Amino acid sequence: MPDYGKVQARQHGVADLNLYSSRKVRVVSGMRPTGALHLGHYYGVLKNWLELQDSHECFFFVADWHALTTHYDEAGGFTSRVFDMLVDWLACGINPGSATLFVQSQIAEHAELHLLLSMITSQSRLERVPSYKDQQTRLHDKDLTTYGFLGYPLLQSADILIYKAGLVPVGEDQVAHIELTREIARRFNHIYGREGDFKSKVDQALDKLGKKTAKLYRELRRKFQERGDTESFKVACALIESQPNVSKGDSDRLIGYLEGGSRIILPEPEAMLTAAPKVPGVDGDKMSKSYNNVIALREPDERIEAKIKSMKTDPARAKRRDPGDPEKCPVWQLHRIYSDRQVRQWVVEGCTTAGIGCLDCKRPVIDRMKAEIAPIRERAQEYAADRVTIEKIVAEGNEAARDVAKETLEEVRRAMGMEYR
Ligand code: TRP
Ligand code: SF4
Repeated sequence: MPDYGKVQARQHGVADLNLYSSRKVRVVSGMRPTGALHLGHYYGVLKNWLELQDSHECFFFVADWHALTTHYDEAGGFTSRVFDMLVDWLACGINPGSATLFVQSQIAEHAELHLLLSMITSQSRLERVPSYKDQQTRLHDKDLTTYGFLGYPLLQSADILIYKAGLVPVGEDQVAHIELTREIARRFNHIYGREGDFKSKVDQALDKLGKKTAKLYRELRRKFQERGDTESFKVACALIESQPNVSKGDSDRLIGYLEGGSRIILPEPEAMLTAAPKVPGVDGDKMSKSYNNVIALREPDERIEAKIKSMKTDPARAKRRDPGDPEKCPVWQLHRIYSDRQVRQWVVEGCTTAGIGCLDCKRPVIDRMKAEIAPIRERAQEYAADRVTIEKIVAEGNEAARDVAKETLEEVRRAMGMEYR
């Protein structure tokens, strides 16, 4: 199971609420199509998606617009990169029968929400998102002073908010983007969730609940407002959710009234940080395409063998008889992923006493890695040869995603007064 202990602490919110109701928590996550997927993606993201896909309502998408913000001059290759990414997901076991798989650019609603949210987002707030400067430094040979790149995290907010996600599984580097998303949602609800007759609508909604329930709701609200008792907040939300005859608008109002004076149109999502092992690249650095040190999910056996054999080890072991320290060796990081306790003991013992050579030490890693990749590679080859199936899967995913996105966008337009029909 994913590490819920690391889920960002949060005072109250939709994700928590769902603990009290039977509905599955909605998860939204995207991946940029920047080339063949590798073990870093597998351990960093995909394993987590696999864990979530049955227990949660998952929306996984190819973030092609996000890739375009930095790769705008390589646009020609997108179609095939998007296709390859979907193939790799499926080959890893991502199941279109459980999760909705789609392509961001095929849901134009994300772009409209991005535009609408841009009206209430300050330029300097976006400039302060850490990844803005970081990426400009890292990709210094690219002009990233574009309007599109500045909007990267806001587009991500739109991706998340348009599905009213409860949880967003992300790495450490993305937490700031979720924080922005939460701020934007709050700001949106504050500005557009206000209604002149809010209080009287709340009273009407409470009347409909019946005396007993309304009384309980008021008590819980008071406990939350006076003492910040978040448990009462959660119970009150669950209470509203459990009422059979409450309309969408009324439930948004009643939840909004718990906190303050406006309706919750866009709920705040929660970041879900997972404890993923760091996969070292063959040079010992973090595995990343831009470092040219990856082992791909479709890597042939002989390439796996060659890459691991040439992998750097503890420099202290210049000669076979020199002892080493596994903590200073990237191969050890791979043992942590692939080897059981017994093998790891053998490594520590053999390395520190020069009882084994580095090639001996790499053998179990090579074998386990090959055994892990082979079935993925074979399934990927099958999917890659079956374009029709992939196209059908995304077409269906796109449609399902679009239905949800359209509904949220309608609400957003209505709230902003942009309704002409
Ligand atoms: N920025 C994310 C990354 O680089 C990809 C992404 C785009 C995303 N939109 C998202 C992730 C929405 C989660 C939710 O990994
Ligand atoms: Fe690394 Fe293993 Fe060589 Fe030790 S024996 S330096 S852990 S490869």
